Parts: sequence; structure tokens; C-alpha cells
Amino acid sequence: MTTPPTQSPNGSRRVGIAGLGRYVPERRLTNADLEKIVDTSDEWIVQRTGIRERRIAAPGEDTSGMALRAARQALEDARINPEELDLVICATVTGDQPFPATSCRLGKDLGATRAGGFDLGAACSGFVFGSQVAASFIQSGACQKVLVVGAEILSRILDYTDRNTCVLFGDGAGAAVFTTLERAGRGEFLGGSMGMDGGSEDILAQPGGGSRFPATHETVEKRLHYMKMGGTKVFKFAVRVFAQMVQNVLDRYGRDDIGVIIPHQVNQRIIESAMETVGLPMDMVFSNIDRYGNTSAASVPIAMREALEAGRLVPGKLAVMPAFGAGMAWGHLLVRW
Ligand code: UT7
Repeated sequence: MTTPPTQSPNGSRRVGIAGLGRYVPERRLTNADLEKIVDTSDEWIVQRTGIRERRIAAPGEDTSGMALRAARQALEDARINPEELDLVICATVTGDQPFPATSCRLGKDLGATRAGGFDLGAACSGFVFGSQVAASFIQSGACQKVLVVGAEILSRILDYTDRNTCVLFGDGAGAAVFTTLERAGRGEFLGGSMGMDGGSEDILAQPGGGSRFPATHETVEKRLHYMKMGGTKVFKFAVRVFAQMVQNVLDRYGRDDIGVIIPHQVNQRIIESAMETVGLPMDMVFSNIDRYGNTSAASVPIAMREALEAGRLVPGKLAVMPAFGAGMAWGHLLVRW
């Protein structure tokens, strides 16, 4: 029997995913509940988005607390102790507060006593970007073990009088532990992509509360601290970049090598349109959007953990994770399970 090489052909260390975890809050907000709050219907939401319910954080529950639960499950899955971690990356746009970083509290509560940490703000692409950062640190030898968490409480920045946004999003957290492939034994990181469509950053944004529009009575009155979105523009952008990323993987590896596509859980119609564009069947997709809606940076790692539990991460086959969102930032993560 030959031992697999610990270095990739370019001499860098090979990276794997040792563990995956997820956490979603208990409270369910169904389409029927939303019918009582805004002018919408279960039929409209299901037809246009595929969403049936989403989870909502309890009062007092915070982003670092949700991240903690997902991280603990991922570390347990990886059989790695928190004090072994070198780095904690928390991808979020709804952190506990503007600063310090949510990863600092997460690291402390987790007991990651040796780790450094920072937050990564790339909205729905945050986990996919953070995973590539983690892999680079391990490839270079700077780190041995890196935790990447995507965690969001979007319900706190949603305007529940705006039916264009409030029906789409939910709360949750997902986590992955990256280490050398030798130690992880599965989930080899094969690469990814990161991009931005600059100039489109106002299509999907939380305009108020930053240095551009600091919080004042006026910004609150204008509801600038809530999420604003031009849904149709996001829709078209998402289909285009999603299809492009999957097509690139198809061109390089071929259809038979792909075991599963786990996209950012944005909208079932976006997923269907992109899959149709690249000519792949929907049964190659893992989706849980009906139960959670769009959880931004948390959506890909939650879906990865559920795909693992459902036996959809097939050993030896590729898992493709395309993500896209505010910014308009987009990117994918490619793993051979
Ligand atoms: O991670 C990225 C985050 N972004 C997203 O997830 C959003 C991506 N975009 C989308 O998912 C879709 O564009 C939406 C689901 C937001 C909207 O679907 P659409 O097919 O693009 O509908 P539309 O914007 O063209 O709106 C159609 C109609 C409008 O009414 P009028 O102007 O035709 O009378 C909307 O006012 O549907 C109306 N509408 C609703 N009706 C009932 C919009 N939201 C709702 C609603 N319930 N919740």
C-alpha cells in the first residue's frame, strides 16, 4: 500500500476538513406566521423561493453563542481540542457588536487559549472566503489547525414591514475545522475562487451604523439599520456567477467526478436556473432552504454538516460549494471528500 503524499505537487502541505458542525435556534418562523405580519402568502413564498420556514434566535441569544455551539460540534467531529487551535475565523455580518471581533469572544468561550482570531465580512460568501484563508495558512505551514465559523442573526437587521426581504432570511451557524490532510483524513481542499463585482455594493446592504452613515435619530427614522435589497438584480447576478463557478469545475474535472453541489442556500429558483444553465440535474444539489431560508455566511457550513449526516458527501468524490451575495462578492470552495 502506498502512503498518500503530504505535500501537493507545488510543494505546499495538503489540507483537509477534519470536522463539521451546525447549530440552528429552536424557534421556527413559518410562512403562515409571516402572513400575519406582512402582506404575503405561503403560496408566493414557496413558489418564488422554496422557503417554508426559518429559524429565529431567542431574545438574549447572540452570534458568538450560536457560533460556539456549531464550533463545539465541529471540534468533536474532528476529535480536536479547542486549545489545539491556532486560528479562529468568524465569518459574519451580524456579529455581537462592531468591535471587538466576534471571534474573540468565541475563542474565549471555546477555550481556544493559543489561537488568534478575526472576523471576516464577505456576507453570504464569508464562509467560502474564510475556508480559503484557513487552507492557505495551513498550506504555508503558518498554522496547523484552523476553525472557520459562519454565524448570523439576520432577524435582528430585518425590517419586518418589508416583504421584499423579511421572508427570505433566517438565523444559524455552521463550522468547519481545517488541518493537514494527513491529520484530517478526509475532505481534501482542492482550491476555490474569490471575486467581487465592484460598483454593485448598494444592491444589497445594511446602510446605517457604519462610518458612512453613523447611527443618528435620522438614520433610525429612515430605517437605515435594516437590510435593503434589490432582489431581481441579486437574482440575475447569483444565477450568472453560480453557473460560471460550477461550469469551471465541470470543465476541469468532468461531471462524473462531482458527487454533490452544496450552494449558498439563497433561493430554490436561483439554484434551479443555475443548474439548468450548466445542464446538470437538481438531484446533484443538496438543499435545505425550505427549512432555514437564507442564513448568509452560515448557509454553506450548515448545509455541509447536514449533507455529511445524510451521506451526501461521498468519499472520493468532489463537493462544490458556490456562494454569492452582498458586495457583490462571490466565490467557491472545492473539496474532495
Ligand atoms: O444571499 C443573497 C441575498 N439575496 C437574496 O436572497 C435575494 C435574491 N432574489 C430573490 O430571491 C428574488 O428576486 C425575490 C424572491 C426577492 C423576488 O422574486 P422575483 O421573482 O424576482 O419577484 P419580483 O421582485 O419581480 O416581485 C414580483 C412581485 C412584486 O409585485 P408587483 O410589483 O409585480 O406588483 C413584489 O412586490 O412580488 C411582490 N413581492 C411579494 N409578494 C408577496 C415581493 N415580495 C413579496 C412577498 N410576498 N414576500
